[in-house]
Amino acid sequence: MSELKSARILAIETSCDETACAILENGRVLLSSTVASQMDIHARYGGVFPEVASRQHVLSIIPVVEQTLVQSNLTLQDIDAVAVTRGPGLAGSLVVGMNMAKGIALGMGLPLIGVNHLEGHIYSSWVYNAGETMPPEPQFPLMALLVSGGHTELNLMTDHLTYRRLGATLDDAAGEAFDKVARLLELPYPGGPSVQRAAESGDPTRFKFPRARLEGQYDFSFSGLKTAVLYEVADLKKKGKTLPVEDLAASFQAAVVEVLFKKTMQAARDHQAKEILVAGGVSANHALRQAFQLQDEFKVHIPAFSLCTDNAAMIAAAGYYRYALGHVSELDIDVEPTWPLS
Ligand code: KG4
Ligand code: ZN
Repeated sequence: MSELKSARILAIETSCDETACAILENGRVLLSSTVASQMDIHARYGGVFPEVASRQHVLSIIPVVEQTLVQSNLTLQDIDAVAVTRGPGLAGSLVVGMNMAKGIALGMGLPLIGVNHLEGHIYSSWVYNAGETMPPEPQFPLMALLVSGGHTELNLMTDHLTYRRLGATLDDAAGEAFDKVARLLELPYPGGPSVQRAAESGDPTRFKFPRARLEGQYDFSFSGLKTAVLYEVADLKKKGKTLPVEDLAASFQAAVVEVLFKKTMQAARDHQAKEILVAGGVSANHALRQAFQLQDEFKVHIPAFSLCTDNAAMIAAAGYYRYALGHVSELDIDVEPTWPLS
């Protein structure tokens, strides 16, 4: 992207339960990134408690921005533009990041760029750490599988910032299914990593859980699978058996991974995609990463583990391309808690 202007972007992300800030150069080089997780606070509720999340963002946001600047050896004078997550996310959480970003932009006379959180997840594959070898840049047309706690969708990306949504989940998101099944199996919050851990020593073929294929469509459905696990658990409990948690977790995970993998591969073939990109919290899942890494039909971009779950580096990357391609926001933009990518 040598034709695009150089810029250092400071980004803020507070859409859910992580208070995050990052500084990124030219859309790719990560100079500094801070993620203050509230995981331990929400764990006692078994999920994110929205009011508690927004209060915690208020406490963390200034120290997180300061720490990010200190780590990069930069000051606000060295920043060219401020990017911020506008949505989707929790309204009370988004507002904290938005106001901080507006304050910096107004105070320093910098452009403000509102970024869709899902667009941010997609752009996490552009990011790499300063000092490391630059990984190849994703090439268009790109088939992007987005798998997070709130979304599961397939987007065909034909150019920067250009998406065509081909399909999405009709009910639960993949991450949500992991979280709900973790609760059924009495595994600790957050559910995705717990299910993965349990699955490592389980037999993925023991339970034949359903795979909703929805033939001819690029949509997904995970509620039937979740209900199948629920019935299996209830049946085993009724019979007074000890739950084979590892086998249940492995069989559930295998069903999710198979559907996500097969649909994405088919969509990539059908749309003559050059490459595949997987993003969002569930892209941290080992079994899902392995499924894509074991095929050699398409080059696949999956972010580094630290960039799979919510962070601000990805918002800075998407923000950079918005800024460089002339999509600067007005200073009076508001948060958009339900903001679809396309
Ligand atoms: O992208 P993310 O951090 O937040 C949203 O934008 O939703 O995704 C969080 C989701 C949660 O549902 C979490 O359980 C899931 O990603 N997740 C995983 C793993 N790590 C996080 N799911 C499966 N396996 C994992 N290793
Ligand atoms: Zn996310």
